[in-house]
Amino acid sequence: MSDIYPVPAEWAAKAKVTKADYEAGHARSLDDADAFWLEKAQRLDWLTFPTKADESSFDEADFQVKWFADGQLNVAANCLDRHLAERGDQIAIIWEPDVPTEEPKRFTYKQVHAEVCRFANVLKGQGVKKGDRVTVYMPMIPEAAFALLACARIGAIHSVVFGGFSPEALAGRITDCDSTVVVTADEGRRGGKHVPLKANVDAAAAHTPCLKSVIVVKATGGTIAMQDGRDIWYHEAAATVSADCPIEPMNAEDPLFILYTSGSTGKPKGVLHTTGGYLLWAAMTHEAVFDYRPGQIYWCAADIGWVTGHTYIVYGPLANGGTTLMYEGVPNWPDASRIWQVVDRHDVEIIFTAPTALRALMKDGDDFVAKTSRKSLKLLGTVGEPINPEAWRWYHDVVGEGRCPIVDTWWQTETGGAMITPLPGAIDLKPGSATKPFFGVEPQIVDADGKILEGATEGNLVIARSWPGQMRTVWGDHERFFQTYFSTYPGKYFTGDGCRRDEDGYYWITGRVDDVINVSGHRMGTAEVESALVLHPKVAEAAVVGFPHDIKGQGIYAYVTLNAGEESSEPLRKELRDWVRTEIGPIATPDAIQFAPGLPKTRSGKIMRRILRKIAEGDTSSLGDTSTLADPSVVDDLVANRVG
Ligand code: WT7
Repeated sequence: MSDIYPVPAEWAAKAKVTKADYEAGHARSLDDADAFWLEKAQRLDWLTFPTKADESSFDEADFQVKWFADGQLNVAANCLDRHLAERGDQIAIIWEPDVPTEEPKRFTYKQVHAEVCRFANVLKGQGVKKGDRVTVYMPMIPEAAFALLACARIGAIHSVVFGGFSPEALAGRITDCDSTVVVTADEGRRGGKHVPLKANVDAAAAHTPCLKSVIVVKATGGTIAMQDGRDIWYHEAAATVSADCPIEPMNAEDPLFILYTSGSTGKPKGVLHTTGGYLLWAAMTHEAVFDYRPGQIYWCAADIGWVTGHTYIVYGPLANGGTTLMYEGVPNWPDASRIWQVVDRHDVEIIFTAPTALRALMKDGDDFVAKTSRKSLKLLGTVGEPINPEAWRWYHDVVGEGRCPIVDTWWQTETGGAMITPLPGAIDLKPGSATKPFFGVEPQIVDADGKILEGATEGNLVIARSWPGQMRTVWGDHERFFQTYFSTYPGKYFTGDGCRRDEDGYYWITGRVDDVINVSGHRMGTAEVESALVLHPKVAEAAVVGFPHDIKGQGIYAYVTLNAGEESSEPLRKELRDWVRTEIGPIATPDAIQFAPGLPKTRSGKIMRRILRKIAEGDTSSLGDTSTLADPSVVDDLVANRVG
């Protein structure tokens, strides 16, 4: 039996969404969807209010994802301009630097508006127009948020690439969507280290013929090379442009951004989100999940390079007239108190972070928490991976001193925002469960054949109908969009996650059921790591699987077969790890590499990953049936030479 943490009385009394609101609202959102959503859409500022809400279909014959299609609006106007009259002098963005002895920066809505207009004019000066793609490869500095909103203002499509990705990974993402402009900084800073962002862009640019200009924000003042005719300093260009820039009227279905994410096969996919439905989902979930009211200091400790940063650092909070904190650094530098010191410094009321960060901090001991006050905290959030009940209780009891509910939000890059999540004034909590579906979300659990399983059960998680924040396509490959998400279980969106539903109708995400590994809350495709490994001249073949990791949730375990005549060695192991870091980025670095003379394959040549997973997990007693293998003896060698 799992414990239940009931909604605290003071939350039940004054929550934005109460238990009754949730129950009635969720039923209505499914039974009378169009009316429900047209009513909710009124929270945004439209140039033309839509007459229809959902026109989506998951069936192959008339497949499309489409919301509010005849409405017109601008995202930047919704996040900034409409707040100016009422809260122009309120702080919109607080920026906390990497180095704790440096001063934070604060920007009012008026100031952010002016900065965004300038940035938009600088982009225009580089020839950027509505529909053009702008790649943003930035550290966690305010200009990153300004750049996103500037794109939105003029109708350009931003594609943010996480600053931890390598030049190769960056180049692939620039060319896939034909970006003409990259916005970057001289260097980034994280945990006292400098990241050579501009140098990485220079290296990427050797493979990106579409790239015409690089806009460089001076962040650290580190030495970099500037290429004449291609590179411009942001501060120089910004000094010459106006702090006023008209908004571009956008149709609700015009693209807002592309964000690349890993899948089980092939190259990373450019997930496309559009304007109206995405913004509504961002704003509505941000308000309901965090019970957010303007004036509250809210901190989402993600990086802007991931969807969490898009939806819950920038678009959701600003659409709601909120104060959003952007932190440049990492949770445990200079030491494991840092995150809580930032909370105290800014009187943060709501914090949103990942289980992996909590597990790492928990390991460093309670003293780092206990010596901070945290009295401002009211609500705690998590995202990115299943949270183990032990980490949940530590967050609740030690960090929140028992007084703050935890919202464990399940969602994906594809879903735009939270999908299965507690609402703190409406839903009793169970540690480790993302609890119940948000308004408009119709989850189902199906078996391998697609049969809908009722009641308390376990299987694969699908969503039976569209919701406003859903991705619209894979950039440049609509067929791949359909194949990836809608062909496994016809008529339904397949999440790729396994899930259990308990007797109270609570959902418990059990993790990916496809070949995707969740490393520290970040998604990594096994196929991507394998492709990187086989690019190495000494590698003949590679198979990559996930294995349980105390801090990261899952680690990366690689089986590598060398070319004939090559010798395995410790230096080669290190070389291969470094190779993957260079090819993809540090987050893809294998935790373990096992040299394997052969891989377990069926007679038709398919690698049996089930066996590789078991061995990586150290569970070698129950390898199951190996009789269908072309050469069962390879398994003995794999077991004998397991790393770990
Ligand atoms: C995958 C999506 C959601 C934004 C950050 C990650 C896993 C996410 C939870 C949660 C259990 C979770 C799922 C999902 N996941 N949140 N609260 N509980 N699992 O976005 O990179 O698109 O990854 O993260 O496996 O499919 P992403």
